[in-house]
Amino acid sequence: MKSVLDSIAEVAGYIWQKGWGERNGGNLTVNVTEYFVDKPTMTGERHPLGASFPYIANQYFYVKGTQKRMRDMARDPLSNGSIIKLSPEGDSFSYVTQPVAPTSELPSHLMVQNYLQQTGSRYKATLHTHPIELVALSHHRAFLEDAQRPNHLTKTLWSMIPETLAFAPLGIGIVPYQVPGSVELAKATLEKIKDYDVVLWEKHGVFAVGQDIMDAFDQVDVLNKAARIYLDALTYTAAHPDSEPEGMTDKAMLDVQRIFKLPTQRPC
Ligand code: 13P
Ligand code: ZN
Repeated sequence: MKSVLDSIAEVAGYIWQKGWGERNGGNLTVNVTEYFVDKPTMTGERHPLGASFPYIANQYFYVKGTQKRMRDMARDPLSNGSIIKLSPEGDSFSYVTQPVAPTSELPSHLMVQNYLQQTGSRYKATLHTHPIELVALSHHRAFLEDAQRPNHLTKTLWSMIPETLAFAPLGIGIVPYQVPGSVELAKATLEKIKDYDVVLWEKHGVFAVGQDIMDAFDQVDVLNKAARIYLDALTYTAAHPDSEPEGMTDKAMLDVQRIFKLPTQRPC
């Protein structure tokens, strides 16, 4: 358990250093059930979740506290979040550690954690953060209108450097704007996360899943690096309007997919 808390603190520090975690921006959960079998809750008091999550009933999660800062979590994860245990019905939770009210994005985190358990996934972590360059691209209609140009953002990012495709092989899904913390946002996120490890919340941030919190962070980092390269290349276009960033060719990308035998679906 200590190593899980250490990596939560490490990732929270990186998010702050990268400028993705202004004030209380961003949140995360990690399924820590394997470390907590049959641990008694603090008071037994149950806090209703307003929905039922049957596949994570009786399970334990580290959850960032609402209004808590990533930079503070980096120093002290258990004062800026808590470990909660879901009830046997999966519709309420109790605190296992010192109570810290959970993040406002709990609907998205628990809906996705429930789905991961339902599908037998070994993914344990969910991460929401505000990566600057990806959010900037989410203000451009060209990257949002999926039906017009399917996976246009994914293809643009993959084409920046081969590593983007290699380390974010499922690409990035788009979730149209919804009110932060809403059940609508959670439902839309759940639908997209079935096909992608990282989804872009239009004009807000990203939501990612991973085997552990470092894995979720890495995928966001890889995709955001590509977004940054794209935006940097566009600054040259501003001075030389006839020169657009080229991107790797379709063939070069197919070669990477073939040579490295990249998955097209989330591995179990
Ligand atoms: P919390 O402080 O409730 O985690 O909210 C931060 C955030 O980024 C909401 O989208
Ligand atoms: Zn947010």
